[in-house]
Amino acid sequence: MKPFRDEIESLEQNGITKVAFKRLDDPKVIPLWFGEGDTVTPEFIRDATKAALDKGETFYSHTRGRPELRNAIKHYLDNLYGIDVDERRITVPGAAMLGVTIAAQMVLTTGDHGLIVGPVWPNIDAVFRITGADLSYVRQRLTPDGWRLSADEIIDAVQPNTKAIFVNSPSNPTGWVMGQDDQRKLMQFARDNQVLIIADEVYHRTVFDSAYAPSFLQVAQQNDPLVVVNGFSKAWAMTGWRIGWVVTPLRHEMHWTALSECFNTTTNVFCQLGAVAALEQGEGFVAEQQQQFQHGRRLVDAALGNHALFDYTSPEGAFYAFPRVRGCTDTLDYVERLLEEEDVGLAPGYTFGPDNESYFRICFAQSHDRLQEGLKRIVRFTEKYYG
Ligand SMILES: Cc1ncc(COP(=O)(O)O)c(C=O)c1O
Repeated sequence: MKPFRDEIESLEQNGITKVAFKRLDDPKVIPLWFGEGDTVTPEFIRDATKAALDKGETFYSHTRGRPELRNAIKHYLDNLYGIDVDERRITVPGAAMLGVTIAAQMVLTTGDHGLIVGPVWPNIDAVFRITGADLSYVRQRLTPDGWRLSADEIIDAVQPNTKAIFVNSPSNPTGWVMGQDDQRKLMQFARDNQVLIIADEVYHRTVFDSAYAPSFLQVAQQNDPLVVVNGFSKAWAMTGWRIGWVVTPLRHEMHWTALSECFNTTTNVFCQLGAVAALEQGEGFVAEQQQQFQHGRRLVDAALGNHALFDYTSPEGAFYAFPRVRGCTDTLDYVERLLEEEDVGLAPGYTFGPDNESYFRICFAQSHDRLQEGLKRIVRFTEKYYG
């Protein structure tokens, strides 16, 4: 008998790292596979962190995060959304990824069902699987107007034993953005049926027609079954720092204290103090990044938008596009050969949940000359083999 649970024994490496590990850190490769750009975290955040270290901020801190950080998060959310979040609802467990994991662990176990809005970032599949629950997907549809999915379609996919619904908006990988009316409707359903919504809003500052994407926080009451997960990785270019936050029902304040303690006892103190600077001084940087991503999207639009070999719709948010290659049924093979022949790294579609085998994900957060060159090579390769 093996000591490991079946859910662990059956885990697989996700398709992004499966491809990327072959040429990780190879300077010849144009890396459009991971969810990050090549902009270093801005100096004012690094300086605040260095100052914290120099002051000797190297000890344990409050289990759910330093009070000044949780207070800065509260003010940031209040100002952004025009709401008044109770600070006791905020926890800094580690990165956003850990927030999703803890939230799933809180509600799902063997015999339960978790519903995931797909296509979705592959780590979410694993997070749900390791709870022992069954899971299924409700998939956004690619329409001529963009990726679409209504609250009603999500509600229709709920099963009698569904305990959690995972919604990531703006979406990685499609850029789909859930509208506020749909959020309100889904929140009402979750409230009535006591199903937890895990709302992953890490791309909340990357939308192309406003300063932020609609948030479930704007339509929720303080004890609704809702965990909103967010973080510093994307909007403030802090992927390597491993820091994010969750906003959770008030009545679970103590549970998050207990869980936070057993997962990581919050994150590095000096990084937390850098994160305060990000929130308090970061609006200019966030706006610059939005401009950069907007231009990146324009480059992808120009290269793939009217090309006969791609089904492509311009994303509404996040910094990815998720095109389909016409005539290609297996983009794992496609991206592996592209990497070998053209030194461009993409993510294969199959890893983003069922029915995505003919799609690939491209991240357009990289600097524009690299992105432009990468796009040129993708088009050249596709025309050579699929034209
Ligand atoms: C949808 C989604 N959620 C969460 C994360 C992870 O964020 P963090 O770096 O804070 O763990 C990512 C990273 O790519 C993501 O795409």
